[in-house]
Amino acid sequence: MNTPSDTPTPELSAGEQELAQASTSLVDTDTWVDPELAALCREAAADGAVLLRNDGTLPFAPRARVALFSRVQVDYFTVGYGSGGDVNAPYSWNLLDALRDAAVVDVDAELADLYTQWSKDNQPDEGTWGNWPRYFEEMPIERETVRAAASRTDAAVVVIGRAAGEARENTLEPGSYYLTDDERALLDSVTAEFERTVVVLDCGNVIDLAWLEEYGDKISSVLYAWQGGMEGARSVADVLTGVQVPGGRLTDTIARRYEDYPSAPNFGGLEHNDYAEDIYVGYRYFETFAPEKVLFPFGFGLGYTTFDVATTVETSETDVTVSATVTNTGSEHPGAEVVQVYVQAPDGRLGKPARVLASFAKSRQLAPGEDDTVDLSFPVASLASYDDSGVTGHRSAYVLEAGTYTVYVGTDVRTATEAGSFTLDELRVVEQLAEACAPEAEHAFQRMTLDRDAAGQAVVAWQDVPTRQSSRRERIEARQVPAVEQTGDQGITLADVAAGTATLDAFVAQLTDDELEALTRGDRVMGSELGAAGNAGVFAGISESLRAKGVPPVTTTDGPSGIRLSAYASLLPSGAALAATWNTPLVRRLAAAHGQEMVRKNTHVLLSPGMNIHRDPLCGRNFEYFSEDPLVTGLVAAAVIGGVQEAGVAACPKHFAANNQETNRNLNDSRVSERALREIYLRGFQIAITESAPRTIMTSYNKINGVWSHYNDELCTQILRDEWGFTGTVVTDWWMQHDTDPDFPAVTDDAYRVRAQVDVFMPGGWFDHITGEFDQVAQASLLTSLAQPDGISLGEVQRTARNVLQLALGLGTLRDTVTALSAGRGEA
Ligand code: BGC
Repeated sequence: MNTPSDTPTPELSAGEQELAQASTSLVDTDTWVDPELAALCREAAADGAVLLRNDGTLPFAPRARVALFSRVQVDYFTVGYGSGGDVNAPYSWNLLDALRDAAVVDVDAELADLYTQWSKDNQPDEGTWGNWPRYFEEMPIERETVRAAASRTDAAVVVIGRAAGEARENTLEPGSYYLTDDERALLDSVTAEFERTVVVLDCGNVIDLAWLEEYGDKISSVLYAWQGGMEGARSVADVLTGVQVPGGRLTDTIARRYEDYPSAPNFGGLEHNDYAEDIYVGYRYFETFAPEKVLFPFGFGLGYTTFDVATTVETSETDVTVSATVTNTGSEHPGAEVVQVYVQAPDGRLGKPARVLASFAKSRQLAPGEDDTVDLSFPVASLASYDDSGVTGHRSAYVLEAGTYTVYVGTDVRTATEAGSFTLDELRVVEQLAEACAPEAEHAFQRMTLDRDAAGQAVVAWQDVPTRQSSRRERIEARQVPAVEQTGDQGITLADVAAGTATLDAFVAQLTDDELEALTRGDRVMGSELGAAGNAGVFAGISESLRAKGVPPVTTTDGPSGIRLSAYASLLPSGAALAATWNTPLVRRLAAAHGQEMVRKNTHVLLSPGMNIHRDPLCGRNFEYFSEDPLVTGLVAAAVIGGVQEAGVAACPKHFAANNQETNRNLNDSRVSERALREIYLRGFQIAITESAPRTIMTSYNKINGVWSHYNDELCTQILRDEWGFTGTVVTDWWMQHDTDPDFPAVTDDAYRVRAQVDVFMPGGWFDHITGEFDQVAQASLLTSLAQPDGISLGEVQRTARNVLQLALGLGTLRDTVTALSAGRGEA
């Protein structure tokens, strides 16, 4: 048996206990699920399932006799671990039951009984926070048993299952990234005895698939199902039996070997990681420098039919207009195709990837012979690169360098073909910005860039990463943050502000220092008594005096895969599965139904979507996140945010930003060039904010170039608000680290944070990841420096109060509470 050589189970720290405690005990036992939401989950998980290989074995014919192998058919992985997976689902299907229930094929009963019994006798240990099982020990199976099953049936299905999660990285070990010996042995036997073997990958992350090449055509079909939530196994059953078609396309490149990923040498560092691969993340690297290292390219996925895609491309000074007509050229099955547009920008002074995704659209579902025309237009400006060194003569600007821009259209990054081009005669500055979050000189590293050999082939070259030149202190000093004079209580309520009979400024002017302070943090604990049982924390109306003025308590709950409460809630397809649909309208419909569930469960802020970039396949939370590509990430996130917020509640995209590993996530420094930060790690957030205006956003645990995100003024004020126009509330990820502002030593902790407009410290009690100390008493750090030389100013604190109150005012679901509290009728 293969057991991953895990580090011994550590004691749970106080903070981890808090994180782990949230929703385990059920207070609300209502199991009702909106049938439309369940149906959308089922549809979406099938639409995100990626068919990587198929020799015609799938879909199974009606009444085909199918032998199901591996215990995962019973112990099915529906989601990953941690806050993004810990949902009390009212039910969850496994694959065995789902296939039987569908009653399209005949599942071999003898084998099913064997596995069911074995699973019962060998119940997997559920593990503890951060130590959950990455796989379940497989049932050893005799060759004779396999042979006998082969003689009774037409085809085999082998299910491989994996999970990782928050505080649970994947590892380069059997049972995580690699197959275990038992899984190998199972595949050996099954492929030897069966003519047709189908592999279903029930995994949250990309795992090693090099073995597919070894088995060759002994494996007929491969379906990457991801983790599909409570309905996921039914979706897989639908796909296997042709009730639905596999609609997914890869949102990550699957490389031949782990070592081929450009992040591999710089992943998992305890103290820091140099993002040396720079902008060459995922397919941007592989297509430019190493196409031969790719097993399955970005964007790839098969359906059950064939398509023709006819494209027209027109270009103007400002826009690229692409129209594609997709025709189902098959004769048997329906299907939808994802049309993808890539652009290669000219080499210029800044290295450019061979391909960058510029637009995509999924056709509607087409019957054989039907066609659909999709629009894939995009602005030329969206192709600009960020010059962080000044090499183009325009430091800190997005520029379009002179030369020819070639447009490729297709159904994956590798096979997309040239469909048009345009030429810029001279460099164009698209946007002049100011330096932000650049690496510090003492942490300089070499970053990857592009060179060409004599034959014109792209080769990897290395250059010094540009380092910080600007003064943060000067920039903050230059900023005016006016205060309103404190008036004391004037009897103005938040309902007056909502009704337009008083201004928000007049309301804020009434607030005492203590009330202002209370608005900058949560109610200290997870599971606050002020919100629905099992919540992640509550902020805004956390004191009696604030509530008396009409400020409602705002309840937060995780998360990406479902509402995490001490109540039953729908378990959605994981983020990776949703993104693989490339179907933003469907994701939006699903999120809208989910928003309605939030209203029913009495929660106001969904700590979702998780939208960090899949920089490396080992990141434990990749199942929550969407893609290695920022455009896919941004547009899928925008669909989630837009859908959820339709219900009058808030989405909270996270973790802003560069939270790309779980290892030592609270203390780790992501050292990254400003160009890569902006073009890769921030771009998805920028797109989501521009498209869908989330009402809140959550910072990440890690540092970015030496500054924790929750103290990062350049990230959370300069870029997020001043450049992108974000007007919502910024909350921390749960707890923060003590620190002193290096530029203003009088400013520490909460003052440092509030100056950066990281408005709300969640859940609001101190937990120190360095010392392991947990302290529910507020630190006085916000008010001690108030109005002191170089200290936090009243204007800064009032500004954060406004950011928080605007959220309370904007949430449709809180309108009645604001009115009731303001009238003195609310609960104290
Ligand atoms: C996670 C967040 C989550 C929060 C509240 C943190 O540990 O990183 O994603 O929303 O806990 O549960």
